[in-house]
Amino acid sequence: MLRRAKISAVSHYVPEKVLTNHDLEQMVDTNDEWIQTRTGIRERRILEDGKATSDMAAEAVRKLCEQRGIDPLEIDLIIVGTITPDMFFPSTGNLVQDKVGAKNAWSYDVAAACSGFLFALSSGAQFITSGMHKKVVVVGADKMSAIVNYKDRNTCVLFGDAAGAVLLEPDEEDTGIIDFMLHTDGHGSESLQMKAGGSLYPATLRTVANDWHFIYQDGKQVFKFAVQRMADVSVKILEKHNYTGDDLKLFVPHQANLRIIDAAVKRLGISNDKVMINIGNYGNTTAATIPLALSEAYQEGRLDKNDLVLFATFGGGFTWGSSLLKWAMPKP
Ligand code: ACO
Repeated sequence: MLRRAKISAVSHYVPEKVLTNHDLEQMVDTNDEWIQTRTGIRERRILEDGKATSDMAAEAVRKLCEQRGIDPLEIDLIIVGTITPDMFFPSTGNLVQDKVGAKNAWSYDVAAACSGFLFALSSGAQFITSGMHKKVVVVGADKMSAIVNYKDRNTCVLFGDAAGAVLLEPDEEDTGIIDFMLHTDGHGSESLQMKAGGSLYPATLRTVANDWHFIYQDGKQVFKFAVQRMADVSVKILEKHNYTGDDLKLFVPHQANLRIIDAAVKRLGISNDKVMINIGNYGNTTAATIPLALSEAYQEGRLDKNDLVLFATFGGGFTWGSSLLKWAMPKP
C-alpha cells in the first residue's frame, strides 16, 4: 500500500550577522522607508566569508536529528534545494552528507530557485511513498549574499542567507503530505537569472566586468507573474481537495515580498493570523524561506497534529507551486 510522507521534524539555521536597512543606506542609494513599504523587509542575515551553503544546511540537519532523536547514520537520502551550491560539483548534498556524518545516505541537489524547497520536497516524498526509503532529509538553503551585487539597489535589499530542513518519514496516522501542484515556464528565464558561470558563459574577464555573476532581476515582470501564479496555485490545490481557506490552520508562503503574500492571502480569503510571515527579519532567503518559516511557526506553537497546512511558492525559472499537508507532530 502507498503511504503518505509526513514531516516528522523541522529545523532551521540563520547566520548571526545582521544587515539592516540602515546599513544598506550606507552602501547604495536607498532608504528604510522605501524598502519596508515596497517589500516588508527590515533586516536580513549574512553568512561570514569562508562559509558556504553546505555549512548552514549541515547546521540545520544536525538540529533536525537532535529534535527527532536520531543518529545521522539512519538517514537514507539528503536532497538540497539550492541555487547557491558551494561549487558546481560535487553537489551541496554530498558536502552536507559528509559534514553531518550521514554515511549511509545518498544525496543530490535540486535547482529551482525560490521553488527549490518545494520541488525537492516533492522528490523526497516520492521515495517515502514508494517504500524505497524510511528517512529522507529535505533541505532548502541559500547563501544569496554570494551572488548579490551590493552596488545594485534593485536586488541587494531583497535577499538574505539561511537554511531550513525537514525530515520525511512514512505516515501511519492519516497525516502527512496530501498533494503537490508544481509548474515551470522556461520562458521566464530572462526575467530572473544569473547569466554567467555556466557552460554558456564560463567565467571570463568580460563576464566579470559585466556583472554577469550576480543575480539579475526584472522586478516588475517577476512581481506581476508572482502575484497571479502564487495566488492561483494556492486556491487551486485547496479546491481540488474540496477545502476552503476556512479549513486552513496555517498558510506558509514563499517570503519574497510582503505585497505578493498579501495578494495571495486576499485571494484565499483568510485572516492574517493564519499566515506565517517572517520576511521582515530575514528577507528573501530563496530555497530556505518555506522551511525557515515553517520551523519558526512550529516552535512558536502555531501548529498541532492534524492541522491543515498550505505551502506556496514561485521563483526564477519561472517556477511555482503549492503543497497541502496534514501536520503530523503535536505542539512542541
Ligand atoms: N531603494 C530605492 N529605490 C529603489 C530601490 C531601492 N532599493 N530599488 C529600486 N528603486 C527605484 C527604482 O529604480 C524605480 O525608480 P524609477 O521609477 O526612477 O525608475 C522605483 O524605485 C520603482 O521601482 P519598481 O521596480 O517599480 O518598484 P516595485 O514597486 O516594483 O518594487 C521590487 C521592486 C521590490 C523588486 C518588486 O518588483 C518585487 O518584489 N518583485 C518581485 C521580486 C521577487 O519576488 N523575486 C522572485 C524571487 S527571487 C528568486 O527566485 C531567486
